[in-house]
Amino acid sequence: MSADGLQKIFKTLADPTRMRILALLEREELAVQELMDVLGMAQSRVSRHLGILRETGLLRDRREGTYVFYRFAPPPPGPWREAWDLARRALEGDPAAERDAAALVRVVEARASRIRSFFDSVGPEWDALRRVFNDEALRARAIAHLAPPELVVCDVGTGTGILARELAQLGLRVVAVDNAPRRLAVARAALEKDGITGVELRGGEAQTLPLADAEVDAAFAHMVLHYVPQPGEAIREMARVVKPGGRVVVVDFVRHEAEWMREELGVLWLGFPSDEIVAWLRAAGLGDIRIEHVASPSPGRDLPATFIASARK
Ligand SMILES: C[S@@+](CC[C@H](N)C(=O)[O-])C[C@H]1O[C@@H](n2cnc3c(N)ncnc32)[C@H](O)[C@@H]1O
Repeated sequence: MSADGLQKIFKTLADPTRMRILALLEREELAVQELMDVLGMAQSRVSRHLGILRETGLLRDRREGTYVFYRFAPPPPGPWREAWDLARRALEGDPAAERDAAALVRVVEARASRIRSFFDSVGPEWDALRRVFNDEALRARAIAHLAPPELVVCDVGTGTGILARELAQLGLRVVAVDNAPRRLAVARAALEKDGITGVELRGGEAQTLPLADAEVDAAFAHMVLHYVPQPGEAIREMARVVKPGGRVVVVDFVRHEAEWMREELGVLWLGFPSDEIVAWLRAAGLGDIRIEHVASPSPGRDLPATFIASARK
């Protein structure tokens, strides 16, 4: 190493404040204000030392908005590394360095306590605040990452394509089937209008799905089965089109007495008892059957409860 180079090392480390700063930043990334708090020094002084240290390459800075954070950048093996090792050893037992270490613990704890007291103080308002960040949509997208990429799902009786669109927006590929051409036209127009790709619409019957065996990873039928003459056949078809290991999910009404639905909604079935659904899922060769009951959203209005049944091929 040249004499100039050596002199630069000595000059840099000759100042005790610079050594203390390096020792602190070796332990923790700190903002200028935090360094000022720990060292009990004014900004001008701290910034001047930081400038000198940055020039030597012993520091890295990270800008975040109006904040700049500094941390120690360990020098590669060589004279700088040896000099710093020596300087660090010299700091051991140094009263100022010990005071710094204690103050550092307080500053770091104050950071954590600022976050804790923020969440303690927002309390219930947090749920309103999170909406500003469109938190629900974000969570749904995040949950979709649990599914393997390129998952292909069949949406049986897609109607206007609400479920298909949601799945596609989460990055899944969807084959959406319905036997009503006008419903498919509405679904197509809505998907095109919003530029949603990833949904393939197919006209066809739930009881004879227009899909090859094992074409998809999962099959959904959301509020469709009560329109299908032979629901057990539709479930058998859903089982046929999913790959081994894939899931079949059926959402529908539990058995109910809301006769008005026949007249007004044209339903064929007044919901289904759980044991019948389980029997159909079993008969289709599916296992790992789970059924969840969901209470009616407005029980006073003669609206039946629903179930979510799922099973694995
Ligand atoms: C109550 S809508 C549900 C639509 C959609 N799944 C949803 O949750 O928004 C029932 C849909 O099933 C379709 N559908 C009824 N019987 C069907 C069958 N046998 N095969 C295919 N689709 C059928 C209807 O055309 C309608 O679009």
